[in-house]
Amino acid sequence: MILEGALLVILCVAQTASLSPTLPPTITTPTTPTPNVTTPNQPTAAPADNYVKIGAFNIQSFGKTKYSRKDVRDYLIQIVTKYDAVMIQEIKDKSQVMIHDFLADCQLHRNYSMALSKRLGRSRYREQYALFYDQDKLAVKKQAEYPDPQDIFHREPLVVHLSDKSSGQELTLMGVHTDPDDVPEELGEMENAYNWATSQGYPTDALIMGDFNADCSYLKASEYASISLATSTSFTWLIDSSADTTVSDNTDCAYDRFVAAGAARFTNTTVDRFDTTFNFTAAEARRVSDHYPIQTLWIV
Ligand SMILES: *[C@@H]1O[C@H](CO)[C@@H](O)[C@H](O)[C@H]1NC(C)=O
Ligand SMILES: *[C@@H]1O[C@H](CO)[C@@H](O)[C@H](O)[C@H]1NC(C)=O
Ligand SMILES: *[C@@H]1O[C@H](CO)[C@@H](O)[C@H](O)[C@H]1NC(C)=O
Ligand SMILES: *[C@@H]1O[C@H](CO)[C@@H](O)[C@H](O)[C@H]1NC(C)=O
Repeated sequence: MILEGALLVILCVAQTASLSPTLPPTITTPTTPTPNVTTPNQPTAAPADNYVKIGAFNIQSFGKTKYSRKDVRDYLIQIVTKYDAVMIQEIKDKSQVMIHDFLADCQLHRNYSMALSKRLGRSRYREQYALFYDQDKLAVKKQAEYPDPQDIFHREPLVVHLSDKSSGQELTLMGVHTDPDDVPEELGEMENAYNWATSQGYPTDALIMGDFNADCSYLKASEYASISLATSTSFTWLIDSSADTTVSDNTDCAYDRFVAAGAARFTNTTVDRFDTTFNFTAAEARRVSDHYPIQTLWIV
């Protein structure tokens, strides 16, 4: 033991002795502090905001028959490809071929990918949601349908974890098309769906969107009081009840809505009047859909 210890000391001394002369001298350059120059009366320019244009569009009865009409198809491609991300609702094609054709046609204009839900519904009639998003700007980290333990929704919300590639900001998108007969029940469950999403690691900043049927005969003003999504200060409704998201001249209903949660910022929320854009007659507009898309800008 003594011998070993002595050997170790000798070795260490020998090593230090042999190494020290070859060690380069440590040069410590004194860091000259650069003064923080603040020019008075000249505000430092804030970095320019970037925007992600988000839409939600109920393309009424969206199946092969509608998509076979060339004029309608061309208008739909023009409307949808304005968005960096768009939640498409009321896809009813059983074969699921049409939505892939639509994606391929839109990919001629933008580098879209899609997050597609299962076919959802309680009867043989089912619908799908599809989020088209531009992969050059955005990434989808994960997606799910809300498990809906009490089976409140006819078509469970599609939940998507979206991230903006340049800023790294993250957002949960939740798309829903409520059943007109159960609007207060389904919207009443929406906060639970949001809480489920955040419990699963989806970002707390969220945009809940789609055709809520949240107006006129389907949701009366008196029924709002029972809906936490409408009464809780955690949520901000970006589309006012005075808006008209329906194409028909005979209706004035704010069915389609955006509801924001968390700290994410949104601006310029509007109804996309494609009938004005294309100078459509009412009949021409109705060939495209009975809903206008709603749109907002996510500030990233
Ligand atoms: C200068 O700016 C740096 C970085 O913003 C900051 O940490 C430092 O406190 C500033 N110094 C003075 C003197 O204001
Ligand atoms: C589309 O985006 C993906 C993902 O960022 C990228 O790998 C691909 O090269 C892009 N395609 C085109 C045609 O730019
Ligand atoms: C938002 O809307 C205002 C008013 O119409 C417009 O001036 C502004 O350019 C819009 N912002 C963006 C980022 O498009
Ligand atoms: C819009 O369409 C109508 C016919 O529906 C036509 O009379 C009018 O000239 C068009 N306006 C524009 C600006 O193209």
